[in-house]
Amino acid sequence: MCGIVGYIGKNPALPILFSGLERLEYRGYDSFGFCVLDDGKIDFLCKEKGKISDQCHIKNSESSGSIGIAHTRWATTGIVTKENAHPHFDCNQEFFVVHNGIIENYKEIKEKLLNEGHKFSSETDTEVLAHLIEKYFDGVLEDAVKKALKEVRGTYGLAVVSPKDPNKIVVARMSSPLLIGINGDEFIIASDPSAIITRTRQIIHLDDNEVAVLTPDNFIISKQEKENDCWKIADKKIETIEWNIEEAEKGGYKHFMLKEIMQEPATIEDAIRGRLYLEKGNAKLGGLEIVEDRLRNIDNIALIGCGTAYYAAKVAEYMIEEYAGISAEPDIGSEFRYRKSSFNKNTAGIFVSQSGETADTLAALREMKEKGLLTIGVTNVVGSNQARETDAGVYTRSGPEIAVASTKAFIGQLTTFALIAVYLGRQRDMALVMGNRIIEEISRLPELAREILDTKEEIKTIANKYINYRDFWFIGRKYNYPIALEGALKLKEVSYVHAEGTAGGELKHGPLALIDENCPTIAICSSDSVYEKMISNIEEVKARNGKVIAIATKGNEDIKKIVDDVIYIPKTLEMLTPILSVIPLHLFAYYFADALGRDIDKPKNLAKSVTVE
Ligand code: G6P
Repeated sequence: MCGIVGYIGKNPALPILFSGLERLEYRGYDSFGFCVLDDGKIDFLCKEKGKISDQCHIKNSESSGSIGIAHTRWATTGIVTKENAHPHFDCNQEFFVVHNGIIENYKEIKEKLLNEGHKFSSETDTEVLAHLIEKYFDGVLEDAVKKALKEVRGTYGLAVVSPKDPNKIVVARMSSPLLIGINGDEFIIASDPSAIITRTRQIIHLDDNEVAVLTPDNFIISKQEKENDCWKIADKKIETIEWNIEEAEKGGYKHFMLKEIMQEPATIEDAIRGRLYLEKGNAKLGGLEIVEDRLRNIDNIALIGCGTAYYAAKVAEYMIEEYAGISAEPDIGSEFRYRKSSFNKNTAGIFVSQSGETADTLAALREMKEKGLLTIGVTNVVGSNQARETDAGVYTRSGPEIAVASTKAFIGQLTTFALIAVYLGRQRDMALVMGNRIIEEISRLPELAREILDTKEEIKTIANKYINYRDFWFIGRKYNYPIALEGALKLKEVSYVHAEGTAGGELKHGPLALIDENCPTIAICSSDSVYEKMISNIEEVKARNGKVIAIATKGNEDIKKIVDDVIYIPKTLEMLTPILSVIPLHLFAYYFADALGRDIDKPKNLAKSVTVE
């Protein structure tokens, strides 16, 4: 989500770090920071709010140090402030850390360190690393880093420098990318190849459980062995990056939209990390703790969003009503204000937004606040207006989404809502076994989502087969009704082809008049409580010579006999199927639009964030 750059060599580090960060800005841009060492001393230390590209004067600062680390932040834990920007440091400003990822157990560690007398200056999870390194430092930086890492749980790509052991950078990785670029007698570390590609194309990828120590003339990578806790020198291969800058930013994918779809399993992982209470059959949602008691008394919920976020709200309606027994009503931000809704003091509003800046959603939020009602945010951007103005909330942690059409952020919203439904359900009548069952199934979702992405070439073939059609219908029922709406929205947004979504049951009430051999239907018919009814809808379409592409559950061979094409998704709980069934629809829209040569990441007439009403 954030970006890391580090430099060790013979040249001044600052300009190299600066241009590396500029190229990483697309990954996170709310604040940034640098720490450069020279001759065993801190030569340049700076943390700022805002975009690096607005701060060009920094590049020309007096600094000749040739060892340094830098970071551009996309806030997750702790709002956007100068203090929360990286590098983070210990009590005496001797150990400097830049970090991507999440330290899940940071609260426990922080409490312990506070009791031991450590003084913290930020709200971040990262800062505990700096203090742990301070605590364990005994002359050799890498030894202290290794000891510190033994105490933390979570994910990290990190880089550490210290004037106490000044001629090195120590880096480590666990589930968060980090690479070392080799350029003759200098080494550049980065979380992303786009940061270093103009300086070198020779790289080594760090793997999980690896720690590298870089000095001006050499580097050593060691790996921790699981069995005996020992560190062994790792034998690594140097790879050559063939990508150009633009391809590198897109992770080698042709478009950000495809890259972001491919990140969907990781988005689920990020949304649930540290939030699954398996033994308690519950979700641990720190952001709702302050309103926990108020939430217990809530008996109806208004769910507000716009565009794709509104469809997430519609899925949430089914989840919350079925599993928490609370009446829930979704509405579009722009329509909410025209209604004379009969709220009572036990009404809560849940506002869903990737950006947290959508004007209509914010207007609805402000209206509800004026009525003194409880407001909750399901937001991706930390510190956004929505995040700041709601009483409490849950961040979706989906990372920056660059493509205008929302894909991974939607997956993050649905996953977050599944957690909220369990949380509200367990506050009420949901049995422990039911909570256990859902939480366990949620933990399998990343793996199931990956299975779908593995079939992307088949989905591409199907999309290409339908490339000459100009009208599409999407149908689904219950949990997959909003997914039919989202599938149609995605297709029209990126391909400019007419597509509509309806509830399966509504087909007879109008849309059938348009179904013929020129208007294919995409039917979401997973093997669940509405399967038979969806089959009836498919038969209605087939009776009018309409072509049908089915999204069906793996193992359902019968469906092949009645439809033209099938895309399979793995079996999961009915309430979680939308998180899987939308993935092939995202891929279908992408490949369809790509075959038509559309400007996929920036569709005409559309904006990523609609900040006017
Ligand atoms: C715009 C974007 C959509 C997004 C919607 C809501 O229309 O193009 O992708 O779903 O705004 O945005 P939000 O940031 O509130 O989720």
